Amino acid sequence: MSPLTASLLAVLAGTSTLATAYTPNRPGSQTRYPFAKPYSQDFLEGYSVLKHVGGQGPYANRDSYGIGRDPPAGCAVDQLIMVKRHAERWPGSGPAGSFAVTLGKIYGTKKTRFTDELEFLNRWQYFVPDPNYIEMETINGPYAGLLDGYKHGVEYGARYGHLWDATATNATIPMFSSGYERVLMTARKFGEGFFGWNYTDVVAMNIVPEQSYMGANSLTPSCLVDNDTATCGNLTNYHPQFDIAVARLNALVPGLQLNHTDVYNLMQMAAFELNVRGYSDWIDVFSLDEWVAFGYTQDLHYYYCSGPGDKNMRAVGSVYANASLALLNDGPKKTGKLFLNFCHDTNITPILAALGISVPEEDLPLDHIPFPNAYNTGNIVPMGAHLTIERLACNATPVAPEGTYVRLILNEAVVPFTGCQDGPGFSCSLANYTSLVSASLPDFISTCGYNSSYPQHLSFWWDYNTTKAYDYETQPYIPSREKQLTYQGTAAKL
Ligand SMILES: *[C@@H]1O[C@H](CO)[C@@H](O)[C@H](O)[C@H]1NC(C)=O
Ligand SMILES: *[C@@H]1O[C@H](CO)[C@@H](O)[C@H](O)[C@H]1NC(C)=O
Ligand SMILES: *[C@@H]1O[C@H](CO)[C@@H](O)[C@H](O)[C@H]1NC(C)=O
Ligand SMILES: *[C@@H]1O[C@H](CO)[C@@H](O)[C@H](O)[C@H]1NC(C)=O
Ligand SMILES: *[C@@H]1O[C@H](CO)[C@@H](O)[C@H](O)[C@H]1NC(C)=O
Ligand SMILES: *[C@@H]1O[C@H](CO)[C@@H](O)[C@H](O)[C@H]1NC(C)=O
Ligand SMILES: *[C@@H]1O[C@H](CO)[C@@H](O)[C@H](O)[C@H]1NC(C)=O
Ligand SMILES: *[C@@H]1O[C@H](CO)[C@@H](O)[C@H](O)[C@H]1NC(C)=O
Ligand SMILES: *[C@@H]1O[C@H](CO)[C@@H](O)[C@H](O)[C@H]1NC(C)=O
Repeated sequence: MSPLTASLLAVLAGTSTLATAYTPNRPGSQTRYPFAKPYSQDFLEGYSVLKHVGGQGPYANRDSYGIGRDPPAGCAVDQLIMVKRHAERWPGSGPAGSFAVTLGKIYGTKKTRFTDELEFLNRWQYFVPDPNYIEMETINGPYAGLLDGYKHGVEYGARYGHLWDATATNATIPMFSSGYERVLMTARKFGEGFFGWNYTDVVAMNIVPEQSYMGANSLTPSCLVDNDTATCGNLTNYHPQFDIAVARLNALVPGLQLNHTDVYNLMQMAAFELNVRGYSDWIDVFSLDEWVAFGYTQDLHYYYCSGPGDKNMRAVGSVYANASLALLNDGPKKTGKLFLNFCHDTNITPILAALGISVPEEDLPLDHIPFPNAYNTGNIVPMGAHLTIERLACNATPVAPEGTYVRLILNEAVVPFTGCQDGPGFSCSLANYTSLVSASLPDFISTCGYNSSYPQHLSFWWDYNTTKAYDYETQPYIPSREKQLTYQGTAAKL
């Protein structure tokens, strides 16, 4: 047997110790066999329905700009400030009521055998087993909300675990959840994932009530008076693409009279079915164009009602943007290294607006769907979305001096800060970040109609409670209409 034949047989048998075993003596002899591509050539069209279910469906990373996720060479993260939306959940009672109306129309046709695209309806069952599940984190399937919280905690524990000392005695690290049942559930699971079994002894879960009496000392600030509702209040959830789906579905079932509102309801229901079951037969009932149209209805809502298209939202987001600036300038030694915060989608979109992330140059059009769309909700606030601010300690490099830098990461994609990306890995020096952000922030208190009797600043990151009493659920199920929580995690009296 020739040496070449022997080494080839060894490769085929999996007993070769050489990655480069197949080395014929001709040009290209350094070629590795098998021909695994170290750099994928598969940048296909990038379509995923997860980018077109708005904020209703499972988490997906943001389309990235291609900047590496790890800290730039010569830099280490010395402080982390994260805000995460609660993870995948069951629908609220409003949408669930709409689903029931539309499903009632379909089953009301008394059709005994469905065909074609609706054939699955002969077996399909609605996925909200009883009203107690409304609003809660999902617990089954590959996109289960509690799994998202735990898995994200585990991943961040691996990435940022150096920011706490597991060998310390009596360490207390605060976490912060807005006072809402599903948000707190996500925060607790994340903490268990991040800190492992040390969670119980180390974490002090702080519950920050969502009510307006908190003023600026809140993870969920909002304007007492929203004086910019003209566009938000008149959005229709209609696109002509939905009429095509209406005609197609009504043709399949004699007597069926769905309208475009029903199509919207069914698409929204499909998004939630993914959170619960992981798959939905309804996804394939609608075309790619119809999903893009559905996604755009969601983009318009976020943009005009809680994003940069509402003129007050930058002021709302300035609460977190400004307080995080103070933390970054305090640095890890003075105030702390880890700030893990949990709230809702519509609390994160104002922060992004305040920081100038994903702000389109022009308002989103109401009469057509733009391509490319700079405000795709699937990239911004899917379930479990999170904005991560990294404070970086960097050595000198040829392009930047030694010092402290800041990087913004939205849904695991590094987002260069507009107007300042001269630091290592397209980061911004803390000094420049501070002056750019503080010069641009509008005033929350005056814009949003608060007076001096309300808390004027976010202070809980500095004067948090150290009790570990609220790390776990200590009470029976809280009915969905009472999900707002007190400091103690009990149902708030509204
Ligand atoms: C974490 O858990 C380990 C093992 O129980 C223990 O030795 C260590 O002291 C704990 N760390 C803290 C900060 O509580
Ligand atoms: C740790 O906490 C326990 C109980 O709170 C206390 O008895 C003990 O003295 C503390 N140890 C240190 C080193 O602070
Ligand atoms: C809808 O638009 C009209 C005209 O701009 C405005 O007067 C009205 O207040 C808007 N509706 C809502 C609910 O904001
Ligand atoms: C669609 O039908 C429902 C009744 O099933 C109705 O409430 C809704 O207003 C209709 N939508 C439109 C746009 O006509
Ligand atoms: C910070 O701003 C100064 C003055 O505009 C500029 O010279 C410097 O390059 C900036 N540094 C970074 C890291 O952006
Ligand atoms: C930002 O926070 C500082 C305190 O850290 C405060 O003095 C300033 O007024 C705040 N600015 C805004 C716009 O809230
Ligand atoms: C209404 O909006 C304007 C512009 O953002 C702002 O200056 C004003 O303070 C707001 N007033 C109230 C009561 O929200
Ligand atoms: C602040 O506004 C509240 C109502 O939002 C009012 O009850 C209170 O008297 C006001 N306080 C001051 C100091 O103006
Ligand atoms: C700590 O808890 C008390 C009551 O339990 C509450 O009044 C206080 O505001 C809390 N502080 C923070 C920073 O959450």
